[in-house]
Amino acid sequence: MAQEKTYKPLSKIPTHVAVIMDGNGRWARARGLPRLAGHRAGTENLRRVITACVEFGIQYLTIYAFSTENWERPQEEVSGLMSIVEDVIDRELDELHRQGVQLRHIGRLERLNPQLQSKVLAAIEKTKNNTRLILAIAFNYGGRDEIACAIRHMISDGVKPEDVTDELIGKYLFTHGIPDPDIIVRTSGEMRISNFLIWQAAYAEWYVTPTLWPDFDKDELYKALVEYAQRERRYGRVLETSECVPDVGKTPAGR
Ligand code: FPP
Repeated sequence: MAQEKTYKPLSKIPTHVAVIMDGNGRWARARGLPRLAGHRAGTENLRRVITACVEFGIQYLTIYAFSTENWERPQEEVSGLMSIVEDVIDRELDELHRQGVQLRHIGRLERLNPQLQSKVLAAIEKTKNNTRLILAIAFNYGGRDEIACAIRHMISDGVKPEDVTDELIGKYLFTHGIPDPDIIVRTSGEMRISNFLIWQAAYAEWYVTPTLWPDFDKDELYKALVEYAQRERRYGRVLETSECVPDVGKTPAGR
């Protein structure tokens, strides 16, 4: 029997990992396949990454599956992505539920076809009491749209200007109840935020890898977690330790 690979425990694990799953198209092109084959391979990989997140003890995983701008892609690709999501719900929901995964949707359901909308709502309802991993799927999601939506709701609720705080805004976002991401992973080497969690990313650590999403496996996730564990998060402050550390190469007496 193949030996299960073991990973050295890390000094800290992020509570919330968010991922821009980029590079499916390039993965497919490199193999002479249509773009949708890349999205299918990316979907297969997602299953592996979800399992790895559960194993590493990550509590929240947010994935960017379809942006408000992705409607501009060729019609065939858009409808292909819609049917991939529908298939995933049909085929994978029971297993995700068994693994203790709670599904959340962030973005707007309105523009999706009614059948897909009902499947998404039913999946959310079925898994709502699961707590092992909260999987937030950003689908028809845009960070600017999310903020505009929050402002509209605040105005229609009659929120007074003096009551507008960071915390209140957070409550009006699609991600309410989900802590801000600790680390945002972007595959395929692009260094862009692409309208993803633009409010919530304020103090996230970024990890960009050239690996294309379908190849971003458990080892790759572990590498991102190792890098995260080494980062010093300062949230704009100066940490006491960095004030006390002498200049490299100088002894205290030589200062
Ligand atoms: C970006 O790669 C990927 C997407 C826009 C779609 C990601 C969607 C999935 C993996 C489907 C799974 C989703 C769920 C919820 C089951 P790209 O097409 O921009 O790649 P490229 O930059 O190489 O062209």
